[in-house]
Amino acid sequence: QTAQKGGFKHFMLKEISEEDEALANTIYAHIQSDKIELDIDEDLLRNIKKITIVACGTSYYAGLTSKYFFEDLLSIPVSVEIASEFRYSKPIFSDNNIFIAISQSGETADTKESLNLAKALGIKTISIVNVQESTIARLSDYVLYTLAGPEISVASTKAFVCQLAMLYLLALKIAQLKGIDVEDYIKELNSIPPILKSEFNHINSEVEKIAKKYSHVKNFIYLGRGLSYPLGLEGALKLKEISYIHAEGYPAGELKHGPIALIDKSTPTFVIAPGIEPFYSKTISNANEVKARDGKIILLSEKYSYIADDFIESPKVSYFFSAFINIVPLQLFAYHIANILGNDVDQPRNLAKSVTVE
Ligand code: G6P
Repeated sequence: QTAQKGGFKHFMLKEISEEDEALANTIYAHIQSDKIELDIDEDLLRNIKKITIVACGTSYYAGLTSKYFFEDLLSIPVSVEIASEFRYSKPIFSDNNIFIAISQSGETADTKESLNLAKALGIKTISIVNVQESTIARLSDYVLYTLAGPEISVASTKAFVCQLAMLYLLALKIAQLKGIDVEDYIKELNSIPPILKSEFNHINSEVEKIAKKYSHVKNFIYLGRGLSYPLGLEGALKLKEISYIHAEGYPAGELKHGPIALIDKSTPTFVIAPGIEPFYSKTISNANEVKARDGKIILLSEKYSYIADDFIESPKVSYFFSAFINIVPLQLFAYHIANILGNDVDQPRNLAKSVTVE
């Protein structure tokens, strides 16, 4: 097992360190001289009027994060639903709607049943899965495999960045079919894996130091706006899963509608604020509301602000690609806290890697 962990103490840390490679494999397999190649009927993609994405856990947050890119690039409505809710709902589909299931394992019961529901309603289905020949892959009309490699740690990390990349590739493919110029986006997507590699090497020990300061905390708040909001949800989920610390993610602007009542000097806030306007100023202004109530701030951004008690500097990329970059410190932060607390990081209590029962 030590050998399998490649010198790392836990699979989770090893898998975070592999994100650049997993991402590179997933992206480069589908880009050929600036053209996105996906094995999906092009007429179907060209005519899509609405996309419904369904998943559980981390895969759901990958879907939620991608919505911002899809809608901005394609002006197609995207609805992202939790599988256990979707499967008992009465979804409204019309012509040229497609259904996308996202699942690392390809075996999650609720996601599988949601897929069956969409199929029964006559909707074309695409699945984004990591495990080849899994049930969800077999059941769907089209399969896009993420090439994350085996993910052993129960808390999902490298699968998330690959799922997000696959969703971006799909959005870019649809854009190309519609004649939208996406050359700059493809260039930037190609540039992300090496940035992730150097980011991991740069920030791992720094995030560990910050984690030491906060490992005694009982409650954590995560705030973000735009696509940093689902990243905050995913950061909070990671912390809950492996450190057993209570954590809540909120859209930054929603703070004043309730959660601000939780803020005091013992409840720190992790603020994700890419340096792009209006997101940066608005998020910093929400962070100020925390500061005014003695809450400590960990700021994740490429732009420093004096309100930060601790600052994690992100490499500069454009807004839509900040998700790939900012997820890494969120995962590392949860990892280091759980490790400092002496928890069983790869096999957290009460959780399973793949939930095949309802
Ligand atoms: C379980 C795992 C999570 C995962 C979720 C969805 O809860 O512990 O890490 O995100 O299932 O799994 P899937 O394989 O469908 O992506």
